[in-house]
Amino acid sequence: MQRTQAMTSVQPDWENFYPRPISEKIPFFSSGDGRLYDCLFAQQLNPDLLTGLFRTADKLRKVTQTKDGADHVAGLLSHKRAMLYFVQPSTRTFMSFLNACHILGIKTSEIRDTSTSSEVKGETPEDTVRTFSSYVDMIIMRHPAPGFVEKTAWLMNRTGRPVPIVSGGSGKDQHPTQALLDVYTLYRSFEGDIDNKHIVMVGDLKRGRTVRSLSYLMRNYKGISLSFVSPKEFRMEPDILEFLKRHDIPFTETEDFRGVMKTADAIYMTRIQDEHDKAGESRAVDYSPFYFRKEHLDLIKKTCVIMHPLPRRHEIEVAVDEDPRAVFWRQERNGMWARAALMAHIFGVDGKIG
Ligand code: CP
Repeated sequence: MQRTQAMTSVQPDWENFYPRPISEKIPFFSSGDGRLYDCLFAQQLNPDLLTGLFRTADKLRKVTQTKDGADHVAGLLSHKRAMLYFVQPSTRTFMSFLNACHILGIKTSEIRDTSTSSEVKGETPEDTVRTFSSYVDMIIMRHPAPGFVEKTAWLMNRTGRPVPIVSGGSGKDQHPTQALLDVYTLYRSFEGDIDNKHIVMVGDLKRGRTVRSLSYLMRNYKGISLSFVSPKEFRMEPDILEFLKRHDIPFTETEDFRGVMKTADAIYMTRIQDEHDKAGESRAVDYSPFYFRKEHLDLIKKTCVIMHPLPRRHEIEVAVDEDPRAVFWRQERNGMWARAALMAHIFGVDGKIG
């Protein structure tokens, strides 16, 4: 893990940097040796990197089945420390990162509520995060403000003691490691062949950061077609539709879930994101046409997989869980392996696994 020329040279002010296209910003968040330094955007994950991370994740699951293997892996980064700064609620992103650190031997500390940090005394979030970098070698963050995780990485790269920043979700923008584990789940479900799949994303697509990041990753595969199924109030945002057009990825938008589920290779369910409501607008929307029910199992392909980033409310009936095509509990566990693989990549020890 090295700092790049781009990172060490003078960078523009944040106000000039933030609005730039992500493709222009990616070099600022990479290592000089072609590795990721910070992980902030799904667009940083290219086909070679994804394949490498999937292989590392597969090796980690296998090697750690024995005590000798687990002890070897737990020694790889036992000299590193990570801070988990999760000031927006999270169960599985937090738990999977925490346990991924433990698999690799990384020691961890955490803040999950700003009321327990010196932010209550008026310290800015930027100074707070900079303080962490005095003590740890990596900061893993979830934050409610759009752009805040990126701003932290940008700030950190200007300091004398930069540490990698890994996003566990930032505002409504992106959730890159969720997209990583989602494609890892597709990779495992389809025995390594994600090309030529019809992927149906369902629910509150306007405000769900997981579907945004997953859409970006579809650029890495051939012959993908997407269907976006949502209430008209919560359709996918135009910037994602523009991105798909630019990359010749065909998509349709519809409210007819039953109509598209028959041809789906993967159905990606999401819940309504009413934490982003400004005035209770979610209550005015009938979300029930966007539920996956037990009766739908007879309509979908035998090879179709049903995914969900979780947590769920009612959008997948619990009786569906027993069907082997329901992979969302496996998807959740895949997150731990995929995130361990990512951290092993960032710290440059992936070649020592397996
Ligand atoms: N999928 C996901 O981000 O879940 P958590 O909010 O529980 O971390």
